[in-house]
Amino acid sequence: MNEFLEIRGISKSYGMVQALKDVSFSVSRGEVHALLGENGAGKSTLIKIISGEEVPNAGSIVINGEEVRDFNPARATASGIAMVHQELAIFENMSVGDNIFPNANFLKGGGFINQRKADREAKSLIDLFGMNISPRQKMDSLTMGQQQIVEILRCVSAGREIILLDEPTSGLNQEEVNKLMGIIRRLKGQGITVVYISHRIGEIMEISDRVTVLRDGAYVGTYVNDASLSEMELIGRMVGRELSGTLYSARTEDGIATEEVVFEARDFSKKNSVSGVSFALHRGEVLGFFGLEGSGANTVSRMIYGLEAADAGELYIKGKRIKKPGPDVLVPAGVMYLNNNRKNAGLLLRSPALDNLAMPLLKRLSDGLFINRGKMVSHAEKYIGEFNIVIPSVYQQPRNLSGGNQQKLMFSICMGNMPEIIIMNEPTRGIDVGAKGEIHRFILELIRKGLSVIVFSSEMPELISLCDRVMVMAKNRIAGEVRKGDMSQEKIMARASGFAAGEV
Ligand SMILES: Nc1ncnc2c1ncn2[C@@H]1O[C@H](COP(=O)(O)OP(=O)(O)O)[C@@H](O)[C@H]1O
Ligand SMILES: [Mg+2]
Repeated sequence: MNEFLEIRGISKSYGMVQALKDVSFSVSRGEVHALLGENGAGKSTLIKIISGEEVPNAGSIVINGEEVRDFNPARATASGIAMVHQELAIFENMSVGDNIFPNANFLKGGGFINQRKADREAKSLIDLFGMNISPRQKMDSLTMGQQQIVEILRCVSAGREIILLDEPTSGLNQEEVNKLMGIIRRLKGQGITVVYISHRIGEIMEISDRVTVLRDGAYVGTYVNDASLSEMELIGRMVGRELSGTLYSARTEDGIATEEVVFEARDFSKKNSVSGVSFALHRGEVLGFFGLEGSGANTVSRMIYGLEAADAGELYIKGKRIKKPGPDVLVPAGVMYLNNNRKNAGLLLRSPALDNLAMPLLKRLSDGLFINRGKMVSHAEKYIGEFNIVIPSVYQQPRNLSGGNQQKLMFSICMGNMPEIIIMNEPTRGIDVGAKGEIHRFILELIRKGLSVIVFSSEMPELISLCDRVMVMAKNRIAGEVRKGDMSQEKIMARASGFAAGEV
């Protein structure tokens, strides 16, 4: 085959995180080449390197057999490479035609803009790609899927030969996904090369000629998408063998969950995002939720705490109906929510750790009780010790701490409220392996103390090591439930990709 783009020995680190380790593979002219891997596998980093946005620590990029030195966005463009980001680079107030040919205004010598000619060219491109829109339409009248396609057409009009798409279907509905698949086929028909990132195996099987799998920043292999390639095989390559026990404090003991239902969600629904989600959490249980992007899992995590409105759904805490879920009623009922976004939720980054830790204490003792500074300090020090937070003093501001220590601080604040039930959303996202292990140990200690935990996570090894059960979501619904003893990344990923229980 005609190797168009070659990646040789690319490595990239962000601080302590090695996002890519010695990755090499090549893309042929005119193919649709998919990049497949779990969250955090390094797909986006790799594609940013190919578009010149990120500079690798090692390795080289070879285009048409020649190494391009000091690769950067301008050189990528000159080599015919275009990237379509998830955050589209469109001009919302302008017309479709002006977005497809943004440079048309500059090209017209003499300052005379031949609008009709520009629109005619835009229209022929729109027709070529089977779109049903007019060049004069304003961009903001289009759906997100249509806007995305217009951005792709701009790359075509600019004569780009390789188009990089990073999870282009994550925000689209099924109809828009189908439309985009059609556009990608037409790009291929025009001889344009497409590098397509996704973690959705179904789409990849449908659209790609070859698939390159990344796992934990490393190259796993490149596979031709012919009749002999199976989805299960790809799932296996993508998740690999179970991670070694040193990374995750694997849960060895049997479950200690009781029969008592402490938290129950019935029939939660929201138009286009969640459909009929029901589940029950037992005392002493760690219940996990997993879903690929767009599965609805993230919406569920927010709806059950009243952080996002639901169209329907009933919530029961220890058998008692909570009419209007929200932190104002759930915190007093013993339910806490631990957010995944340390920067925007929960932590006062510019107030001393002391004030942060004292927040729940102040709330509890505010009924006329006098709290002195000494009490606050000893309360804070107790948690700093218990959670092993590395901090020079209680007066330090959280913004100066590492992500892991910030997260442990969030944990401490949460525990200060003495909850019985904790809902955690990505409790260890973006923190180092050591702090991750510590947080896992805290979670397992909590259930030994009789608390109950719901964990929403995109990391399957985390769920497997922590949970008694994992609810797997796909297409807005709970697609299956996997139980301790019968859990594997393959099983979870298969359900998340829409396979029924009997098929795996
Ligand atoms: N700007 C960044 N700073 C620090 N870490 C990063 C940055 N970008 C990515 N990472 C880390 O690099 C790894 C790979 O990320 P990414 O390429 O986004 O994966 P994917 O797209 O496959 O989900 C992850 O561990 C991620 O947290
Ligand atoms: Mg990504």
